Amino acid sequence: MTENFEQLRQKALSCQGCKLSKTRTNVVFGVGNEQAKVMFIGEGPGENEDLQGEPFVGRGGQLLDKMLKHVGLSRKENVYIANMVKCRPPQNRDPEKDEISACGGYLERQIELIQPKIIVCLGRIAACALIDQKFKVTKQHGEFFEKNGILMMGTFHPAALLRNPYSKPDALTDLLKLKEKLAELS
Ligand code: URA
Repeated sequence: MTENFEQLRQKALSCQGCKLSKTRTNVVFGVGNEQAKVMFIGEGPGENEDLQGEPFVGRGGQLLDKMLKHVGLSRKENVYIANMVKCRPPQNRDPEKDEISACGGYLERQIELIQPKIIVCLGRIAACALIDQKFKVTKQHGEFFEKNGILMMGTFHPAALLRNPYSKPDALTDLLKLKEKLAELS
């Protein structure tokens, strides 16, 4: 079945497609403008996201919002933010392969419906799943790769930037490249 956005969201909210459904508080489907030209994709909800049902609402999310603002982007206006998995992995462990593949259909359909021009992968898990299994964030951040007609870029995960603030200038440079590319495309 090819669901519209609301049908897809409703389906996700009652999903029991993998073991993460057993321990979640809320399904974290995604947030933002469904007509956005750019999508940001993280790894999976953490504790705050699980409690509030929205991606990137903890300290990492605040940093992400601040960096987005710097380049004229905002989850309230012109980006859509989602995760590889929609339910929190216990103790914030990395999502496992079977969980990523069980949840993959939701993300695929979100991408099909939103039709972003650019996808930004936040961190290794999303970049390895969506760009290249061997993606190295420290070496390849900020580069654009074309996949199925969509430009993809990997950059630092906000949680990694909180642990290692020295990478913040590089992350901001990546977002400035994104801004330039968006201007080129419109
Ligand atoms: N980390 C992620 O990858 N996604 C979130 O939504 C929150 C933290």
